[in-house]
Order: sequence, then structure tokens, then C-alpha cells
Amino acid sequence: MITRAEIVDWLHEDDPVRLAELWRRADDVRRRVMGDEVQLRGLVEVSNHCVRRCTYCGIRAGAPVTRYRMSPLEIFECAMQATALGYGTVVLQAGEDPGLELDIVSETIRAIRKRTELAITLSLGERSGAELAAWRQAGADRYLLRFETSNRELYERIHPARADEPSDRIAMLGRLRALGYEIGGGVMVGLPGQTRDDLADDVEMFARLDLDMIGVGPYLPHPATPLAGEARPDWDSELMTYRMVALARLACPGANIPGTTALATVNRADGRELALARGANVLMPNLTPTRYREHYEIYPDKACLRETAPVCDGCLRGRLQTIGRTVGSGRGDARRTAVGEP
Ligand code: 5AD
Ligand code: FES
Repeated sequence: MITRAEIVDWLHEDDPVRLAELWRRADDVRRRVMGDEVQLRGLVEVSNHCVRRCTYCGIRAGAPVTRYRMSPLEIFECAMQATALGYGTVVLQAGEDPGLELDIVSETIRAIRKRTELAITLSLGERSGAELAAWRQAGADRYLLRFETSNRELYERIHPARADEPSDRIAMLGRLRALGYEIGGGVMVGLPGQTRDDLADDVEMFARLDLDMIGVGPYLPHPATPLAGEARPDWDSELMTYRMVALARLACPGANIPGTTALATVNRADGRELALARGANVLMPNLTPTRYREHYEIYPDKACLRETAPVCDGCLRGRLQTIGRTVGSGRGDARRTAVGEP
């Protein structure tokens, strides 16, 4: 297992020759534990309504975006498209939207569960214990909830709590685990005030939570948000994200780790490919109908904003072929048991 001192050293490492050693180690563990298959997870951005005011996020409450909420039928049709394209998982993601009511979401999950073999991942923000239990009961398999940073003070600065209760995403991940979900967390890299020590804490937190999925992406300032004017750390957040992807793989060998859309946004040429060569094993093609996609603007100039689902699918398959990786079959669950330590 990788030690705290090693994590901190790698986060400070700038020598390309030494970094190549980190990439190689992460890639070796990824190949040995997860194989060469890249899992494709179809992402459906089901609603951009949000009651929260996270200071980094372009769809925060009050932001000047056109709001939409997909109907259960529209969501179901996207899930059918995920199946048609051969994906093993559909991810239903949204702002924290109370309009996505318990029963509506439950019925949508049941419909997908009944008609497809898809694993169903939810990413709907901080929801009540009753909702999380009902959705698990309805057939949801996984839940993604990034904790964004393990620095409590920084977290509170970027993520104002709701009036009624404090925000504790770490605790919620524990509740999700107890309900039998596979759990996904993750962080943004390059937040104003974030330090390398914070990132080392994040990597240790990934391991402590024993995450099944770890999403890491560069923070991208959105001009219409309060955080946009604040000074960011002096590091290259793209490169720092690769360090974090590699360290996440070393700390959590069996986790599913995506090459994120935020990485594709800062490096359209090969951000995702570089992540896949440095520990990642998942891509999340966007299945959101194009008429809604442009409104899910959590950060500006998002990759794949106008491409339709079949275009992204073809694009990603081509990219995988170029780097000698294959498309995964099946659901692509995390490897939780005794595959071995690095
Ligand atoms: N830059 C980068 N990532 C962002 N996210 C939200 N806003 C931004 C931004 N401005 C990420 C958060 C969230 C995930 C869905 O998208 O980590 O959890
Ligand atoms: Fe969407 Fe390449 S993945 S266009």
C-alpha cells in the first residue's frame, strides 16, 4: 500500500522522467487488477434544477441558465439507447432537484431495471435517507457523490450548507454503503486555497472510504460563479489531475476510475487517453439529448456539448482503438475482493 510520504512526494514531483515511473506503476496496477477493458458508462444529465449554491458550479440556484427536467419517459429512452450502444451502466445525474421526487425516480429505476440488464448509477446530490433507501429498493446499484475536497474548511467555503442541516458527504457515503450501494466519490483539483497536503488527504480518504468509484477532474472556473474571481494554486491542474488519477489507482487498486469530461475539456486532444494510460479504466459518454446538454453547464466550454450520443460513442471507440484498449462488456462492477496489492 502506498504511504502518506510517498503520496506527498509524488504530488511534489515535477521531473518528467520520475513522473513516467508513477504513470507506469499506476498503469501496471490498472492492467493487473482491472485488465485492458475500458468500461463505458452512459451519462444522462436528467435535470439541471438545483437548490444548492456551490460557489464553483454553473448550475447553482439562481445561476442564469435555462432550466430543464427530463420526463421519466425521456430518461427511459436514454437508458434504452445505452443498451443499444452496448453499455453496461447508465448514470442518472442531476443538480440537487427536489422536483425529482422519490416516486418519480423509483418508477424510472424500476422501468429501466425491468427492461434492461443495465447497472443503474445515481448521482442526484445530497438526498434523504428515505429516498436513498427507496431507490436502492427500486433497483439502483451505485451512487456517485463527490466530496470535492476533504479539507473541511475549504469544503464549507465552496459548498454552503442547506439551512436545515449541515452538509456531510462523507457521512452520506457511509449511509449509501450501508444500504448496499457501490459508492463513488471524488474531488476537484486546483480549487482556490487547495494545497498538496489537501490532495494527499483526499487520496487517503479514497482508501479509507474504500471507494468503488473515484472521479477526479480539474476545477474549471465558471465566470458566472462567485469562486471564479479567486486565485487558484500555482500548479498545472491538468498535470495535477493525472497525479491524482495515478495515486487513486495505487491507493484503491480495484476501483473504477474514469477519464473525466473535465479532463477532456482542458485537453481535448488526449486528456482522457492520458488518464487511461495513468490509472483510469472508465469513460462516460454523454447520452443527454443534445437539446438539454448545453444547459447542463457546470463549467464553461464543456467537451462534447453538441455531439450526439452515437457521435460520442464512435469517437470514444476510435480513441480506445488508437491506444490499444478494448471496450468492456458486462456491468463493470468494482473489484472488491482480494485481487492483490500492488
Ligand atoms: N469545474 C470542474 N468540475 C466541476 N464540477 C462542478 N462544477 C465544476 C467546475 N466548475 C464537478 C464536481 C461535481 C461534479 C458533478 O462536477 O466535482 O461533483
Ligand atoms: Fe464526444 Fe468525442 S467523446 S465527441
